[in-house]
Amino acid sequence: MSKGSMAGRRAVVTGAAQGIGRAIAERLLGAGVRVCLWDADATLAADVATELGDNAFAEAVDVADPDAVATATRSSLLAMGGIDILVNNAGISGPNAPTWEYPIEEWRRVIDIDLNGVFYCCHSVVPMMREAGYGRIVNIASVAGKEGNPNAPAYSAAKAGVIGLTKSLGKELADTEIRVNCVTPAVARTRIFDQMTEEHIDYMLSKIPMGRFVAVEEIAALVAWLASDECSFSTGAVFDITGGRSTY
Ligand SMILES: NC(=O)c1ccc[n+]([C@@H]2O[C@H](COP(=O)([O-])OP(=O)(O)OC[C@H]3O[C@@H](n4cnc5c(N)ncnc54)[C@H](O)[C@@H]3O)[C@@H](O)[C@H]2O)c1
Repeated sequence: MSKGSMAGRRAVVTGAAQGIGRAIAERLLGAGVRVCLWDADATLAADVATELGDNAFAEAVDVADPDAVATATRSSLLAMGGIDILVNNAGISGPNAPTWEYPIEEWRRVIDIDLNGVFYCCHSVVPMMREAGYGRIVNIASVAGKEGNPNAPAYSAAKAGVIGLTKSLGKELADTEIRVNCVTPAVARTRIFDQMTEEHIDYMLSKIPMGRFVAVEEIAALVAWLASDECSFSTGAVFDITGGRSTY
């Protein structure tokens, strides 16, 4: 493999049936990477994998279920022969409400998918990366995890947790060839909007100095670099993509 080339690498992208995950999968496929699309929406994931061609595979998996994640890891290994890149993207926003009114079941669901799911996927895939002596892990956090968005307490807490997990795992693996980083996008127009109130979307847009949503392709471009060999001296780090909202 020539320096900087990703051709021949094998990736798992969770939540890849649509939105940001699909854009990441398309970008990696365009770079010659084979990609397993893990998604809870089995039908959509299978349709998208067919649409994306021979190097795309679909796995029906709920990332909040550690047994399902272990099974999907084995299937992806069989389909591709290894996993060099893991992009933990699957996530939900949950409803918008202040903390004292937030439904306890919704809190648990958001933490289960957005935070525990990232842990289960890392827990399952990292051992084979350690054995292979190579890996790139990119976690999709959110600016909500850095700054806290009002009326999104579970989401903000889960994404802050993803940032903390990224820092911890990055340091644990710093003496290997495995790099672990996360990105903190501002708001992108995807199906996740269906879960939010209009006021909440307006609030998030109003905080962005560039005054626009981020395009999913812009996030995919940053993730593709973090998933490449060229990302060699950054680990446990948080990469901002908020149109100027965060300056750290
Ligand atoms: N869109 C935004 O404004 C925005 C901003 C910052 C961060 N993010 C994060 O980016 C990621 C992708 O968001 P999106 O906007 O593309 O959302 P989306 O709703 O368009 O797509 C999410 C995908 O994840 C899948 N998914 C949901 N729960 C799952 C589970 N338990 N197991 C497996 N798959 C599951 C869904 O089926 C869907 O295909 C999420 O982690 C989200 O928090 C999004």
